[in-house]
Amino acid sequence: MACAVACTLLIGLAVTYVLVRISKHKISKEPHRRRRQLKLPPGSMGWPYIGETLQLYSQDPNLFFATRQKRYGEIFKTRLLGCPCVMLASPEAAKFVLVTQAHLFKPTYPRSKERLIGPWALFFHQGDYHLRLRKIVQAAVSPDALRGIVPDVERLVVPLLRSWDGREFSTFHAMKQLPFDAGVLVIFGGQLEDRHRSELKKNFFIVEKGYNSFPNSFPRTTYHKAIQARKRLGGILAEIMNERRKLGSPAKSNDLLSRLMNSEERLSDDQIADNVIGVLFAAQDTTASVMTWILKFLHDDPKLLQAVKDEQMAIWETNEQGRRPLTWAQIRSMILTHKVILESLRMASIISFTFREAVDDVEYKGYLIPKGWKVMPLFRNIHHNSEFFREPQIFNPSRFEVAPKPNTFFPFGTGIHACPGNELAKLEILVLIHHLVTNYRWEIMGQQGGEVEYCPFPVPKQGLVVKLWRVSDSSRAEQSS
Ligand code: HEM
Repeated sequence: MACAVACTLLIGLAVTYVLVRISKHKISKEPHRRRRQLKLPPGSMGWPYIGETLQLYSQDPNLFFATRQKRYGEIFKTRLLGCPCVMLASPEAAKFVLVTQAHLFKPTYPRSKERLIGPWALFFHQGDYHLRLRKIVQAAVSPDALRGIVPDVERLVVPLLRSWDGREFSTFHAMKQLPFDAGVLVIFGGQLEDRHRSELKKNFFIVEKGYNSFPNSFPRTTYHKAIQARKRLGGILAEIMNERRKLGSPAKSNDLLSRLMNSEERLSDDQIADNVIGVLFAAQDTTASVMTWILKFLHDDPKLLQAVKDEQMAIWETNEQGRRPLTWAQIRSMILTHKVILESLRMASIISFTFREAVDDVEYKGYLIPKGWKVMPLFRNIHHNSEFFREPQIFNPSRFEVAPKPNTFFPFGTGIHACPGNELAKLEILVLIHHLVTNYRWEIMGQQGGEVEYCPFPVPKQGLVVKLWRVSDSSRAEQSS
């Protein structure tokens, strides 16, 4: 009897074991089966390894994306620089990747670029570390933090414009100065010694040059020089932090460096330095290229330029003909000028797309996005789609009298990696336009058709060469009467 019970128990156990194994096997096979059922998005992977890289770099990138969108629809695959990619050109897809399913897509940058900025910079990260760093950066450039620095930004803009008076220059290259100085202002407050400022600037510009060069570590190449300059930047920042520690950094100080140094996160010097350099990087060419486009768009539309002048002259008059500084309330009241900025951001779409990498196999609208593939939401295609923006090729700031449809306007990205610096960028641009149109006139030099250069952001050819001059009080009075 005992033997029979033992046998029954053993058989029972064996059957249970087999059943559990089978069901486990079934479960673990399930994603693979599902994966096999799903098809990859349409599109061409081009040549082995190089894929369609040559096609992308031998023509206007907008044409590359637009022709494929026309051929394959809102989601298509390709291979670029050895990486299989899925491109997404619809508002829903951008929202899926950047907002609702953002945890399935991590940021991805070439290793050579990560080395130059520093691996701890927040935009390379996902999860807890990213969120904590982002909160600190966001607080340093929030409207609350910025309202007090309007006069400081004016103190950067006024001498800069004066230094261009009567000169011919490339707007994009000259404009870089302002976002760099404004970045230094929010990072270091007013507490940066001149020797540190000039060393930071010198080395930052060498790093910037190397960022867009071929990553070749042989001595004397642009990339190698950039790596060396990046090391020096780390040294300068370590020195600044040590001096602040010795002097006892003022606890109430609100600049980004103090916030990073005093944060409960107990960040290492490397983590702080990488984020300081990261913010300077993210702030500079983006803002400079938008400023460049605005000069072009205003120049090309005299009626609009006059309307912007009228808006700004009214503020100038209120401020005792520019003798009093601008206020935050006045910045917020520049309604038309703000729309000009939004429309310039849409038209130029300087960040045409962004990159993510699928951290797992992901299904989107019946298609498989395989784990490890790059995923690119195409902002520019959405901004130039007539379904969302009527007559998208026409520069028309009044379209922003009505808010764009949800998830169709991404000049500053969206979701957990959206740009924390958008208010700072707009503040710099608004202050610049105020002083520019109330005190100066400019002419575009040479033949400036619609040709565009990629640096890597799109800018008008040669960075838009202009001649700028200061208006006399009498001609200003004539024009505003
Ligand atoms: C007109 C100027 C600017 C434009 C068009 C712009 C655009 C963008 C976009 C589209 C992103 C998101 C990228 C992505 O999702 O992959 C981004 C991220 C970022 N931007 Fe800006 N940006 C501008 C100015 C600035 C400024 C002035 C700062 C300075 C604080 C800044 C700091 C950052 C940072 C730190 C990130 C990374 C955020 C994160 O990963 O959480 N940007 N920017």
